[in-house]
Formats: sequence, structure tokens, C-alpha cells
Amino acid sequence: MFYPILRSALFQLDPEEAHEHTVRALNTALSVPGAASVMRSIYRPATHGMQTTIAGMSFAHPVGLAAGFDKHADITHGMACLGFSHIEVGTVTPKPQEGNPKPRMFRLSTDRGLINRMGFNSAGMEVVAARLAKRPRGLPIGVNIGKNRDTSLEHATADYVTAFSRLAPHADYVALNISSPNTPGLRQLHETTALQELLGAIRSANQLLNKPIFLKISPDETPQQLEQVISTAIAYGINGIIATNTTVTRPNLSGPHTNEAGGLSGMPLRMLSMATLRTVVALTAGRVPTISVGGISTAADVYARLKAGASAVQVYTAMVYTGPAIVAQLTWGLAALMRRDGVTTIAEVIGTDR
Ligand SMILES: Cc1cc2nc3c(=O)[nH]c(=O)nc-3n(C[C@H](O)[C@H](O)[C@H](O)COP(=O)(O)O)c2cc1C
Repeated sequence: MFYPILRSALFQLDPEEAHEHTVRALNTALSVPGAASVMRSIYRPATHGMQTTIAGMSFAHPVGLAAGFDKHADITHGMACLGFSHIEVGTVTPKPQEGNPKPRMFRLSTDRGLINRMGFNSAGMEVVAARLAKRPRGLPIGVNIGKNRDTSLEHATADYVTAFSRLAPHADYVALNISSPNTPGLRQLHETTALQELLGAIRSANQLLNKPIFLKISPDETPQQLEQVISTAIAYGINGIIATNTTVTRPNLSGPHTNEAGGLSGMPLRMLSMATLRTVVALTAGRVPTISVGGISTAADVYARLKAGASAVQVYTAMVYTGPAIVAQLTWGLAALMRRDGVTTIAEVIGTDR
């Protein structure tokens, strides 16, 4: 109820500054004794009949936090208090790096979207590993990894293996990010030979740890490219697909900032992300689960993604526009839709409209 007021104050600020204020405010609030349990009860999500299992991990409900919001694992406890069923920290690079010059994040308020060209600003794996060692328990926490900007594409695999080896012991799953549009050349890792090298090396590094590995893909690949990516991912034992990252296309935009370079997220990405989900679900044919992300902002969106075959969803941009009650809104709304349709478990929903 109070978020519209807070939002108009936050929207006076540069988007990245607003984000930093939010992180600081949440961490300050959490340092007050008892605040965490108050927050948990205010933002309590619906969980009855909502459980979903992915790669052996149990999620209390389908709605998780997408990568990029908690890049350095400094607000993981706060996000857990907002009710997310899982949290994806990162993208984390092996060495710390600044990312692109500011400003690098833009609000497209009329279109309810964001454009960002953060470029993997990262505290680096050492800092993040130390924070993840103190991560909240009781919900899956994944870590999303990428390469440093100054690492050439030929040496990209070594960066992923380095980050994997340092971070995977402190996470419940690892997401390989090959789909950010803001690190030059990164998306070329969708190409078969490069992907085979990367996935082969990660598989070897994972032999003892045996963590679930997800591949986060772009919404800008052709169906032919997606077919190659999915068959390679399955051949190399990937445990799930996260679809999708932001788009470099500019569909259906009307407001300001639309010409900024970077990846577009939020409402304008919705159709493209859904279309990619449908292609991925058809290609995987139930062999690996898919987490759908991109333009999800209502319970009806979550319901539609699950029906299309997603096993869970993630959100980022909708939290900027809707506020901290987003998970409660989506899960209680989903529960109402399921009740309307006489469905009692998420398992009965997944894939009913493929
Ligand atoms: C400011 C910003 C930073 C992001 N950073 C990352 C990142 O570091 N790694 C990543 O895999 N995705 C990143 N993303 C992409 C999101 O995880 C998500 O895939 C995308 O925003 C689509 O979801 P949404 O429409 O719910 O925002 C970022 C998105 C935004 C808006």
C-alpha cells in the first residue's frame, strides 16, 4: 500500500542510485532485532500446494529472484524475507570489475521496462564466496557466473571454471550466464563448439561437487540456434534451462530512453520470453526443466508460464514497478487462479498448455 509513495520518491533518483538506496535501507531495517520476522509475516507468500521441484531442489512456490538484483550477495537475507522461493545471486566474475561507465540503467516507465548495460559490475568471486558462506538456509540460493570483460573469448572457459570452483561449494545451484548482451562477444558462447568446450569443462569441474547446473539463454536466438543450444546442453548433462535474459531488440516501445544501448527487460520482453519458453519446452520435451524469466508481472503471467511448461519463474523488473510485495501478490494471485480452476498442486499446472 505504501509502495506507490516510496516509488515516486525512488523514481526521482537515478535508477542505479535508487537500487543502492533500497539495498542499504533493507539491510539497515534487517539489523533491527525482530525486523526479519516482521518482514516475513508482512510479505508471507502462498505456499499451500505451491511446491515445485527442480533438479532435486525443492522450491516452496514457483517465484524466484532473477540474477542481477543481488549481484554481490549483499542482500540475500532481505530478499529471503520478501518471500522469494529461490534467489539467484550474480552475475559474479572471477576478478572484481567496475562494469560500464554510468549511467548504465534506464527506466522506461511508460513501457514498464528497463534498459541496462551494467556490463557485469562485480565484487568478484572472493568477496561473494565469503558472503555466500553466510547465506540464509531454508531456500535454494543459486550463483550465476560469467567471464571478466578483459578475458578473451578463447579463454572464457577458464574464467567460468575458476568462478565455478570457488563459488559452487557455497551455492545450491550454478547458472552459467552466456546471454548477457553487455559483455562483448559473450553471446557467441551459444555457438556449438564454444558451448561444448564450456559445458565439458564445467562437467569435469563438477564431478565431485555434483551441483545442479543451469544454462541461462538469450531471447534473441533463432529457433535453429536454440535447437543446437538445447541439444548440446542436454548432451552435456545440463540440469535446467533459464529462459531468458534481456533482449537487444526493441519491441513495442513508446516512451523515452528507448534508444539507449543495452538489454531490455520487463513488460516489452514478455512476448519474446514466452515465445522462447515455448520453443525451449518443445525442444527439451520434458528431459530437463525450464525456469521462465522475462516480463512476468502478474499472477496470470506466472500461471501462463507454468501452463506453457515452466517449472518455476523469476522476476526482476516487476519488483521495481510493483515493490516488495511482488512475491506475495504473485503467489496469492496464483493460488486464487488455481482455486478458480479446481487445481490443487503446481504439478497439475505445469505443461497443461504446451
Ligand atoms: C539492471 C539489471 C541487471 C541485470 N543483471 C543480470 C546479471 O548480472 N546476470 C544475468 O544473468 N541477468 C541479469 N539481468 C537479467 C535478469 O536476470 C532477467 O533475465 C531479465 O531482466 C528479464 O526478467 P524481468 O523482465 O523480470 O526483469 C539483469 C537485469 C536488469 C534489469
